[in-house]
Amino acid sequence: MKKYLKLTAILLTIPFFALIVTNRWTVDAQTVGTQTPVVTAGEKFKNIKVLNDMPADQLGRVMNIMAASLGEKCSFCHNTENFASDEKRPKQTARAMIKMTFDINKVNFNGRPQVSCNTCHNGHEQPASSPNLNPESEPERPAQPKDKPTVDQIVDKYLTALGGTAKLATVKTRYIKANRVEAGGEVIEPETIWFDNNKYSLSTVYSQGTVAEGFNGTDVWKASAGKPIALRPDEIEQIKRESDLFDPANIKTVYNKMDFRFVDLIDGHQVYLVTASTATGARERLYFDVQTGLLVRRVASSQTVLGNFNYQVDYKDYKLFNGVKIPTTIEYAVPNIHWTRKVIQVKNNVPVDAGAFSAPAK
Ligand code: HEC
Ligand code: HEC
Repeated sequence: MKKYLKLTAILLTIPFFALIVTNRWTVDAQTVGTQTPVVTAGEKFKNIKVLNDMPADQLGRVMNIMAASLGEKCSFCHNTENFASDEKRPKQTARAMIKMTFDINKVNFNGRPQVSCNTCHNGHEQPASSPNLNPESEPERPAQPKDKPTVDQIVDKYLTALGGTAKLATVKTRYIKANRVEAGGEVIEPETIWFDNNKYSLSTVYSQGTVAEGFNGTDVWKASAGKPIALRPDEIEQIKRESDLFDPANIKTVYNKMDFRFVDLIDGHQVYLVTASTATGARERLYFDVQTGLLVRRVASSQTVLGNFNYQVDYKDYKLFNGVKIPTTIEYAVPNIHWTRKVIQVKNNVPVDAGAFSAPAK
């Protein structure tokens, strides 16, 4: 037990692992699809005084939202050897702030998490109450087209830009060798990705052990060092989405409702913003480059007691492999955590390793 706690403490100092580890804490209690009651943070963790009723599986996301909102690391509030300890003053201030934030929302917004830490802090320890006298001007939204493009036009242009539906249909399997580059660029972890029609798997070799996830055609799974990790419904959907979108022609069935909103700018390039929702009601924002037609950004989000936890994926450096384009630099961002996938090798239509899609034996 002591050894396990020590390990979780080590893992918790790495924010990405914080998410995995807090998920693992919920393993026995939250098997998706069954009616087991939600385990609360108050029940699961040692020293919870205000987040008592929050589902325990939100803790990792909420901590990362707080850290990102203040522009601080976990260690600003915590002794990272002992997260339950109250020895750091900001942790105690944070409790009062959480309570204040809940009260603001209760009194003014029917309890909806409209105001969160970032509303005031905006990435800073100290919120600024007076307006900035030297504001940097925000880039203006580009002129909007007279004739709005239809979703069909945007999607058709995207599929054509990738090589066209006929070419895309010739790809049955894919192997990708990549590196996961952590923020800062120094820590690099090898990744292996497999696709086979509607199956998918990704394994990442961290110094602490291998983390793998996949969809075997029936079930979504995730495992850390061979041990299964419980997944929230939104995580299951995200993993399954990877396999569904292996054939980008599936985009219109994955998202059963898509609406063009307006032309926006990303890195100086004009993009069509399309809002999309899935059959289960998950909402995402998709951004297609006006000029190239390619999908350049996807933003999904999941709800927490402190507002939306956004998950952003930027697709860059599209290259041709057997006549089909795929992005070779993919930047991921969630609050407080960034990483990049650098694709090293792509092989289309190769025989798939036996067992590439199966969860580790329980
Ligand atoms: C702004 C301050 C702040 C930051 C930054 C912060 N936390 Fe917390 N954390 C808290 C507070 C406050 C609590 C206790 C909440 C309560 O009492 O309801 C807590 C509780 C926890 C707990 C539960 C400990 C227990 O057993 O009682 C864990 C684990 C944790 N945080 C991890 C993290 C991690 C990992 C990060 C960085 C990603 C982080 N925290 C960032 C303020 C913070
Ligand atoms: C309505 C605005 C508002 C919201 C919402 C808000 N804060 Fe604050 N926060 C402040 C102000 C203002 C201060 C500075 C208070 C002071 O200097 O006495 C502050 C100070 C703090 C401090 C102390 C900083 C330091 O330098 O020690 C922490 C920690 C903190 N907030 C955490 C949070 C967290 C976590 C949340 C979300 C749960 C949050 N705040 C939400 C306005 C807000």
